[in-house]
Amino acid sequence: MVLCCFFVVRHFHKFNNGDLAMKIRSLLFSSATLLLLSANSVIAADLESLMQGCNDCHGNQGVSQWADVPTIAGLAEFVHSDALYIYRDKERPCADSAYRQGDTSRAETNMCAVAEQLSDDDIDALAAAYSALPYVHAKQEFDAALAEAGKAIHDQSCDRCHSDAGTNVDDEAGMLGGQQLGYLRTSFAEFAAGTRDQPEKMQEAISQLSANDVEALLNYYASVQ
Ligand code: HEC
Ligand code: HEC
Repeated sequence: MVLCCFFVVRHFHKFNNGDLAMKIRSLLFSSATLLLLSANSVIAADLESLMQGCNDCHGNQGVSQWADVPTIAGLAEFVHSDALYIYRDKERPCADSAYRQGDTSRAETNMCAVAEQLSDDDIDALAAAYSALPYVHAKQEFDAALAEAGKAIHDQSCDRCHSDAGTNVDDEAGMLGGQQLGYLRTSFAEFAAGTRDQPEKMQEAISQLSANDVEALLNYYASVQ
């Protein structure tokens, strides 16, 4: 419909030589604009309801209060959309999960099933919207001595790609400092098992970590509040 109006407008533009044509043209143009505006607001409403569904697991404004669910607010736009495309292709483990708030009687689902319902446009809009929300560091308990040991490992092996304690959005490498620990713990296990893809250089660094190193790193990330 919108395309058709534009076509007519363009058509009139070409052959326009009178007042009437001018009036019709401006009328058509404003109705095309209105249509465009209403199309946009439908998308905005859709986006809002999609985000409500996400927030029912990821927390209000995308800030999680549950250890096994990551905060997605403030995630780099590219990292977020990339994750959703990978889940849609079922190329990353996705554990079944209950809804945490809203209608909690809904059946459990998982990120692969969630992403399957999303179009490319949905994914890009969601990634953009969440990247604009503020990242909030989770308040988590940690062991100070382990955190100190973890910081040393991080600075030596991880900082070059995960600067500012792994909270620099410009690195496009996910969020580490202040991220929910249960989620990070699972991610480490998936990287170690090779079930979740990672950059080759990171694999080299991760494969050298002992169980104690991982524990130290987790305590360090928890200490970044
Ligand atoms: C039923 C609960 C649930 C729903 C609904 C849900 N998620 Fe998730 N999401 C999770 C869990 C749990 C994880 C942790 C990884 C895993 O188990 O797959 C996760 C992981 C993610 C990640 C990976 C984060 C990272 O740093 O790599 C992104 C991105 C994400 N979800 C975005 C979304 C978006 C966007 C929506 C809405 C369209 C959504 N999720 C809906 C539970 C949910
Ligand atoms: C060569 C660069 C590089 C190095 C070195 C590196 N990483 Fe990464 N890391 C990345 C990139 C890029 C991603 C995002 C990829 C993805 O989410 O699939 C990532 C993702 C992660 C994630 C998942 C974050 C999330 O949101 O789910 C964790 C955890 C992680 N890295 C930990 C580490 C640790 C710990 C080290 C050091 C031992 C390290 N990385 C070293 C580049 C690197």
